[in-house]
Amino acid sequence: MNLIDSHAHLFLEEFADDLPLVIQRAKQAGVSHIFMPNIDSTTIEPLLKTCDMFPDYCFPMIGLHPTSVDENYLQELEIVHQQLDENAKRYVAIGEIGLDLYWDKTYLNEQLIAFEQQIEWALQYDLPIVIHAREAFDYIYKVLKPYRQTALKGVFHSFTGNEEEMKQLLEFTNFYIGINGVVTFKKSTLPDVLKHTPIERLLIETDAPYLTPVPNRGKRNESAFVKDTMNKIAEIYQTSPEKVAEITSTNALKLFEKG
Ligand code: NI
Repeated sequence: MNLIDSHAHLFLEEFADDLPLVIQRAKQAGVSHIFMPNIDSTTIEPLLKTCDMFPDYCFPMIGLHPTSVDENYLQELEIVHQQLDENAKRYVAIGEIGLDLYWDKTYLNEQLIAFEQQIEWALQYDLPIVIHAREAFDYIYKVLKPYRQTALKGVFHSFTGNEEEMKQLLEFTNFYIGINGVVTFKKSTLPDVLKHTPIERLLIETDAPYLTPVPNRGKRNESAFVKDTMNKIAEIYQTSPEKVAEITSTNALKLFEKG
């Protein structure tokens, strides 16, 4: 089986003590690639170090996460730009980027500027984008709409919206929908929403160390647990886990051009 974790932050300190074991368990679970979105300037070094430790297995992205946008955002953006300028071939995507109004709305305008700037760089450097959206669906949709007819491509990571929102996102035909452990939660409405979503549009991910799927919910998440999300999706689509792995892996490799 060829399974891919399209979104994990294994470079964070949660994994400092046992990263080689985490990678070993991912391999045992059938995970062939792990794609890693950056957070901000403080995480670039650990991110690249982690990817250097596991070459051709862990792949870095560069970007400024919306929860790291504050009064210093222009300096932070400049660091992202510098990385792209000097090192564009190193990165498989610009991520994660987007809007997060759940934690704090203080920097909404700055978040919007950072999001749009990074979209422009994605077009310029011909890289896909990984979008983080929390309590910000309407803004995200509004920013992206003018790009629908462009070459812009990417993934709506950690989708947890409703049927109408899914319908609107599926109109972006160069984009995939990223599904993680949330789909396994008891009260999740995602299984119902997915019934109206073609499986060919999905990527699967962990968002490790966060959002651990059942039956390990509450513990630290890791890439091996992507198989629990795969199994749940197989159940929803009444197909085999192998088929889910095959379709979602093909999608991820195509998006990040590692096929
Ligand atoms: Ni993330």
